[in-house]
Amino acid sequence: MIVAIDGPAGSGKTTVAKLLAEKTGIFYLDTGATYRALTLKALEEGADLDNEEVLREIAENLNFQIKEGRFYLDDKDVSDQIRTPLIDKSISAVVCHPGVREVMVNLQRNIVRGKDCVVEGRDTTTIVFPDADYKFFLDANPSTRSRRRFSEMKGKKLKVSFDEVKNDLERRDHADLSRVSGPLRRSEDAFYLDTSDLAVEEVVSFLAKRINR
Ligand code: DC
Repeated sequence: MIVAIDGPAGSGKTTVAKLLAEKTGIFYLDTGATYRALTLKALEEGADLDNEEVLREIAENLNFQIKEGRFYLDDKDVSDQIRTPLIDKSISAVVCHPGVREVMVNLQRNIVRGKDCVVEGRDTTTIVFPDADYKFFLDANPSTRSRRRFSEMKGKKLKVSFDEVKNDLERRDHADLSRVSGPLRRSEDAFYLDTSDLAVEEVVSFLAKRINR
């Protein structure tokens, strides 16, 4: 069984997907983490982020693993390192290359092969798993999404201002929507849910109920 969850940054999809996977006892794949790990690797190698060929090659050789909910790059736990403002700033340049996305979509499908899984990310219902058993599109208004991102970063003691977070979110929204390859798009058969006024637990139990039906 595949449950795919799509939506913009700050829609709550990561938190919800993780809790839903725990509640249903199935594997969880955060596809954003795969792109984040690739961005980290590209930065470590000093790669030109505009060079699609170079990035594709790095993607093809990416040694990425998920163990007990933690993300590993070259056997090193990078779960925290992939969520810093530096990665947030650089990632749009990496994820826009069609050739890179092709490799990463294959990687994501391979990770999930043979498993029941909650897969989360902004093209999972349209490109990665268009035939998923359950498809959800989570949304929230921009100010709610910025607030959520800001408190997430504060919680991690990262030094950022609310305006920085808001501007970065707007920039990424624009890049995600206007991207030619794998843009953020609401699949017609995905269930749409505006989470602006909902608590995380409410969203999780709503999704779990629809799956159990
Ligand atoms: O969900 P996130 O914030 O961890 O995603 C990080 C970036 O990766 C975001 O700018 C969009 C991109 N991304 C993507 O292009 N496709 C996905 N399936 C997941 C994330």
